[in-house]
Amino acid sequence: MNRLLIVSNRLPIKITKQKGDLSFERTAGGLATGVGSFYKSYNSLWIGWPAVNVRKNNLEEKNRICAALREEQCHPVYLSPYDVKNYYDGFCNNTIWPLFHYFNHLTEYDNHQWKVYKKVNEAFCETIVEVANPDDTIWVHDYHLMLLPQMLREHLPNAEIGFFLHIPFPSYEIFRLLPWRKEILEGLLGADLVGFHTYDYIRHFLSSVRRILGYEHSLGEVVTGNRVVRADMFPMGIDYQQFAGAVSEPAVQEEIARARGQYGDRKIILSFDRLDYTKGIPLRLEAFDAFLEKKPEYRGKVSFILVAVPSRTAIEHYQALKQQIDELVGRINGKYATTNWVPVHYFYNYLPFEALVANYKLADVALVTPIRDGMNLMAKEFVATKTDGRGVLILSEMAGAAPELGEAVIVNPNDREAVVEAIETALTMSEEEQTERNRIMQKRLRRYDVTNWAGDFINRLDDACLHQQTRS
Ligand code: G6P
Repeated sequence: MNRLLIVSNRLPIKITKQKGDLSFERTAGGLATGVGSFYKSYNSLWIGWPAVNVRKNNLEEKNRICAALREEQCHPVYLSPYDVKNYYDGFCNNTIWPLFHYFNHLTEYDNHQWKVYKKVNEAFCETIVEVANPDDTIWVHDYHLMLLPQMLREHLPNAEIGFFLHIPFPSYEIFRLLPWRKEILEGLLGADLVGFHTYDYIRHFLSSVRRILGYEHSLGEVVTGNRVVRADMFPMGIDYQQFAGAVSEPAVQEEIARARGQYGDRKIILSFDRLDYTKGIPLRLEAFDAFLEKKPEYRGKVSFILVAVPSRTAIEHYQALKQQIDELVGRINGKYATTNWVPVHYFYNYLPFEALVANYKLADVALVTPIRDGMNLMAKEFVATKTDGRGVLILSEMAGAAPELGEAVIVNPNDREAVVEAIETALTMSEEEQTERNRIMQKRLRRYDVTNWAGDFINRLDDACLHQQTRS
């Protein structure tokens, strides 16, 4: 039977063990949220890491986990603590992640970690070869598994294989710094279709393919020996109805009423991200500080809600960032707080869905100013919850979502003056203008939601394979 095999490092479900009992939680992050919202509507199986450590020979526990995951159309690939250290914390998040987000100064090049990255990609390949049927479509996701398409191609030469990169593909001048640049490109070119969020990422990828591997391209097609690989743009959408519809849910309304009581009639600026250096949280806090400094008339009249979701906490740069944010929040609150006003309300935890929607709905302004971001689905989720049209999105031009959300107040996150002015523009924008801008963005987001995004990718993958067959 024709199935869709979704493959990503992380499963949408994270398993934790407490005194031998297993518990299941939803996973945070764009990929898990986005793909997690539609995969069950397909005859699909999602293959990935359940983020739990199981001893190699503990078959009883493995069977229990496997059975529980099967209920969720998921299948596990286990990583040992050694793999987590060298592949996930190491090569994925200390090499690829910083480099592809243009944080060259944080990038480490470690040959041992590269070898473990290869080994884990091979382990994924083995699992897929075990579970795949000949007619299955295989859709591999993200930077953790860039070698996998080619590995799969060697084992399953006729398989339909798609790849989607959820993070930016950097310009050639950055990508070329990677000692294993050739292997990474060859790995990706094992797919029939390679998808990106924006046109710029495709351009960078094709230029690296030409300059590093010497393959020419035309209209997004690369000819590699006897195969044609297509590169195309699929700006990932959100589950629009889920966010727009949730606003009127009683649990969300209760949460809004509770928070309203807490913040009174103050204007609310919301900042919500995984705690990651690419998100530009310190710059954003400094801009808010400068705003209060330069425009004292707003003191006492705005509250800044800062939600930072814990992420990759074993990695040093993430720990240092957490400390930096803690200190900045303390400094700003110490500088401006009065007996009845605290400028920054800081939450370092994962927000359940209802609380997240309540925060979006409550916020007058969302300050989404990443230094670099593959897409940024939060910007889209915020707009979707603005069912009455009110609310202003301030969005960094460095987010992949910016080309689609041109009606937002677009800023360069490094330009503090511009961010300060953007905050004032947002706080004083007329309701008519807010509504007009939001309605245009909402229409666009509703039309190309995450289900259409996935359908579009799979249709174009089918098409690419058909094209491949007619050539050979
Ligand atoms: C980004 C990546 C995803 C990743 C998510 C959360 O959105 O593109 O692949 O799952 O961050 O990061 P984590 O390291 O917790 O999986």
